[in-house]
Amino acid sequence: MGSKVNSGLLVLAIFAVFLLRRQRRRYALAISHGCAPPVAYQPKEPLSGFDFQMRMYSHIPFLYELHQRYGETYQVRSWVSLPAICTIAPENIRAINMSKDFGVEPMRLPGLGYFCGSGFITTDGDTWKHARKLLKPSFDMSNIRDLSTLRGEVNSLLEQVPKDGSTIDLQPLLYVMFLNSALHFVLGVHPAEQQSGAPITADEFVKSFHSALFYSMFRVVLGPAWKLLPQKRYERTCAKAHEFLDYYINQALEENNGHKSKSLIGELSMQTDDLDFIRSQVIQAMMAAQDTTSELLTNTLFLLARHPSYWEQLRNEFIGVPEDNLSAEKLMGSTLIANILHETLRLYPIFVLLGRLALRDTVLPVGGGPNHDRPIFVQKGAMVVMAYYALHRNRSVFGDDIEEFRPERWNSIKPEQWEFMGFGGGNRACLGQQKATVEAAYVLARLTQSFAKLESRDSQDWKGEMKLTCKSANGCKVALYAK
Ligand code: HEM
Ligand SMILES: *[C@@H]1O[C@H](CO)[C@@H](O)[C@H](O)[C@H]1NC(C)=O
Ligand SMILES: *[C@@H]1O[C@H](CO)[C@@H](O)[C@H](O)[C@H]1NC(C)=O
Ligand SMILES: *[C@@H]1O[C@H](CO)[C@@H](O)[C@H](O)[C@H]1NC(C)=O
Repeated sequence: MGSKVNSGLLVLAIFAVFLLRRQRRRYALAISHGCAPPVAYQPKEPLSGFDFQMRMYSHIPFLYELHQRYGETYQVRSWVSLPAICTIAPENIRAINMSKDFGVEPMRLPGLGYFCGSGFITTDGDTWKHARKLLKPSFDMSNIRDLSTLRGEVNSLLEQVPKDGSTIDLQPLLYVMFLNSALHFVLGVHPAEQQSGAPITADEFVKSFHSALFYSMFRVVLGPAWKLLPQKRYERTCAKAHEFLDYYINQALEENNGHKSKSLIGELSMQTDDLDFIRSQVIQAMMAAQDTTSELLTNTLFLLARHPSYWEQLRNEFIGVPEDNLSAEKLMGSTLIANILHETLRLYPIFVLLGRLALRDTVLPVGGGPNHDRPIFVQKGAMVVMAYYALHRNRSVFGDDIEEFRPERWNSIKPEQWEFMGFGGGNRACLGQQKATVEAAYVLARLTQSFAKLESRDSQDWKGEMKLTCKSANGCKVALYAK
């Protein structure tokens, strides 16, 4: 009995010394960098800051409003968790890219790992680097240049759109279009021409993919409490999606006789024969590809419908161009399109905010103290939130009329690397940027060739709806006129 108490005390004492030492190390780190805490925002619900979390996801301009009130860096304090640091100081965003001290793995892998394994979305360090390296060849110009799948999709979209000016919501049509194009990019087959040997149809795969993703996000939010819920259905849904992909991966691995394949599965199976690894990359690529481009395009058309002069300019630029001449190079060479897409992403970023976790005790260069000019100590496990929606509304970078849709501003402004983050930047910058840009441009060119006029049929202001990405909550209700 006595010795039990003694060893208990010993463990406690060792733990206390450990805590004290750690505290002292932290203090020393903070002092040596001249750190000062950033100004604090106090959530209304002080325990966990639940109202802050809710509002951050449900009201897109929320973090921007706080930045206007508190400056470019502030912290959000709560009783049970470490303070979250919200920053849009370009110096800090840059530092987060340069430093190995910030990552995503601890907040993503435990929840998402069962469904989508280890890959560029769920890991940091060497695992992430390896995944990114193997993914890269799929985004070569040679793969991006082939617009034949998208051509078919646009043709069928054009058949579905009424030409007489009746109202249509383009958002669901664009979604299906880019979902099909993403499936083709990933599998190398169009969902309409699926193989009879596949365990389920492409439609069923998409359903299980979405539901697995939905439950996985839930899992991320719940953390360890997830284990208390029944798992069977989730596991079955994941297994269904996995089986479908494994069928195509195994096929690619068997067929692999050295000739260059254009699908992601084909590319990956030439570089490795690790089925789990390929499947994880493929699911994560689907996550990045399935809705992003269509959301950008929906927002673009939402804005163009309210600013008809740009539709006219686009039509003038593309009306005489034969379909065959709409090459990736030509589309990427259009300043008008580049300006329009940039301006849309500036106003309504698809990634409204991105979070990074401090992987160890570390320091951010600016934002501390009343003048926001001192470094900030960031404790291991603390979250840093970068609100790109707010970053893109910096008047000294973009001009005073920041809420205006004015694509031509991009002819005169020159945002630095960390001042515009539409496609992210630095180490983790979007690999799909060129692909997404070319494909969005292609659809815009085809639409402006086919329709003389685009008219808005929705008087509400743009409102965002955020899941993983942020889309227009009210879709894109418009009328199109052939003449
Ligand atoms: C308009 C469309 C798109 C936008 C706005 C967009 C935006 C972004 C952003 C902001 C990031 C950075 C994420 C971070 O910092 O954690 C990112 C990463 C990435 N995106 Fe995109 N994306 C788009 C389309 C696509 C498409 C179509 C694909 C694939 C087909 C793709 C593949 C990727 C990949 C692989 C990464 C991860 C890079 C890494 O972590 O190493 N993206 N994207
Ligand atoms: C706006 O951008 C400039 C230049 O990058 C930067 O110095 C300034 O701190 C930013 N302002 C805000 C409010 O973020
Ligand atoms: C991001 O950081 C890495 C080092 O981690 C560096 O090599 C790279 O150049 C940085 N990117 C930019 C755009 O500064
Ligand atoms: C289409 O491309 C061909 C060959 O590249 C070129 O000769 C022709 O002038 C182009 N036509 C138009 C209208 O751009």
